[in-house]
Amino acid sequence: MTKTKIAVIGGSGIYDINGLENAEWLTVESPWGDASDAILTGSLDGVEMAFLPRHGRGHVHAPSTVPYRANIDALKRLGCTDVISVSACGSFRDEMAPGDFVIVDQFIDRTIAREKSFFGTGCVAHVSVAHPTCPRLSDACETAARDAGINVHRGGTYLAMEGPQFSTLAESQMYRNSWGADVIGMTNMPEAKLAREAELCYASVAMITDYDSWHPEHGEVDVTKIIETLMGNADKGRALVARLPALLGAERDPCPHGCDRALEYAILTQPE
Ligand code: ADE
Repeated sequence: MTKTKIAVIGGSGIYDINGLENAEWLTVESPWGDASDAILTGSLDGVEMAFLPRHGRGHVHAPSTVPYRANIDALKRLGCTDVISVSACGSFRDEMAPGDFVIVDQFIDRTIAREKSFFGTGCVAHVSVAHPTCPRLSDACETAARDAGINVHRGGTYLAMEGPQFSTLAESQMYRNSWGADVIGMTNMPEAKLAREAELCYASVAMITDYDSWHPEHGEVDVTKIIETLMGNADKGRALVARLPALLGAERDPCPHGCDRALEYAILTQPE
């Protein structure tokens, strides 16, 4: 058994979490540069927690300039075992309505301008991301959402786009009709891939804010619409997070899905 330390990466609208005991903002040094912000640490129900605002307090990092490698590395250095991403997303499905949450389990990575790996210079590794999220952690997120009275959908494919502009109508229709994506956002890639390389369990909670641009009755997405829905979603997101420590417990067994051993057979470079 090892100690659980739950990291929460909060997206747009979530810049802190409440109720932590011994709360302290810590700056963590990383060879990959500065993280998005200091990390809020403390404990909740006897379980260690760490919170990182992905865009920084004051929302200073755009999706393309979020320091994804430094963020994941800083959480690893702090001893985090589990990473839960909570982010605003658009929806490609009628039934995944604004205000609902989706526990994402697949990604299509369309980002093109980001550093995506800790490996490549001096040490080459190819990890599997066939199943990029941890089912054990996703179970906890689903239960926490249901207990908090949130309308939650289990499973969904997240289209990660580069941004910062939203999609064209043609792209929106293609992602929904031909590619089978369920939700769209700008930040979960390469974060999920890096969490796997760092052997951290990763789950993603998409808080639906809009129907992107495909929905004939909803027009096109804009920031005003997102912010309107985000205010309610952020409180729900915090209610979900507050329930996680009790569900995950202060100690954990090795991940039954092997997230914490992802590098076991992934490194090609011979040791010196
Ligand atoms: N975040 C929230 N809504 C979004 C959308 N429609 N596209 C990309 N990112 C989003």
